[in-house]
Amino acid sequence: MTFAPDLLVGKHAFITGGTRGINLSIAHRFAKAGAKVTVIGRDAERAAGAEKQLRDAGATALALTADVRDYAAVDGVIGKSVAAHGPIDVLVCGAAGNFPAPAAAMSTNGFKAVVEIDLVGAFNACRAAFQHLRKPGACVTFISANQAYMPAMLQAHVCAAKAGVDMMMKALAMEWGGSGVRLNSIAPGPIADTEGMARLASTPEARAAAEKRVPLGRFGTKDEVAEVALFLASPAAAYITGAVLAMDGGFGLGGFGLNPLG
Ligand code: COA
Repeated sequence: MTFAPDLLVGKHAFITGGTRGINLSIAHRFAKAGAKVTVIGRDAERAAGAEKQLRDAGATALALTADVRDYAAVDGVIGKSVAAHGPIDVLVCGAAGNFPAPAAAMSTNGFKAVVEIDLVGAFNACRAAFQHLRKPGACVTFISANQAYMPAMLQAHVCAAKAGVDMMMKALAMEWGGSGVRLNSIAPGPIADTEGMARLASTPEARAAAEKRVPLGRFGTKDEVAEVALFLASPAAAYITGAVLAMDGGFGLGGFGLNPLG
């Protein structure tokens, strides 16, 4: 699908975790479509680097530092971004944490770290942003994952967090539909060149084995996720809310069997 180059002109997109990875690609794509973008992350140096990178690409961009687990900090950066860029039209809840660990050896704090970043952090961003985005045409997109509906070894914390994110998204879609706000999740499968995949498939052998399990036979790209995020922010998605859009080359089908065609 080709999107109009001015699709998001005049719009403000606020992206948590937007200083790197998939979320930074989304920031670039939204900026290319004309949006003013705000990205937030925990690391000030990385935030400064992301802001420079976005501005060098021609974006009207602001990068701010906050931990999504801290409601006051999130509320503060949302206030600053609204002062700079105006009311929020698109919120992307992308901040996430992950590490592979067996549940029996994972500390409660380790489990909580991921649930608090992914789930509580998304709630904090939604709650703080709502007063600035409650209008018809506004939308919230969550970056979920296959783990939300596919149980995975060494991922008890991520499975719990992402399943929570998707169900929270649906509850908010019910509550905020009357204000004209749409909420949806993108559930990416294995995406190349991300910190998540580097952690979950850390060797070439593990990557090759993972690729074999994808019906489309390859990992996705960050740019492909960004295109789906743009679609969800576009008028083409005006009647889509409460949906979890799997974006995984068929990985989440979880089927099995021999392909007679080889
Ligand atoms: N295995 C087991 N436990 C781990 C771990 C690992 N690889 N990495 C961190 N933990 C535990 C820590 O031991 C700690 O628990 P403890 O206090 O009982 O020892 C707890 O998790 C919190 O660790 P800490 O480093 O203080 O957390 P943090 O808030 O700085 O980092 C993480 C959060 C752990 C999720 C970190 O991996 C992170 O920041 N990731 C962000 C980037 C990322 O993961 N991107 C991919 C997204 S898909």
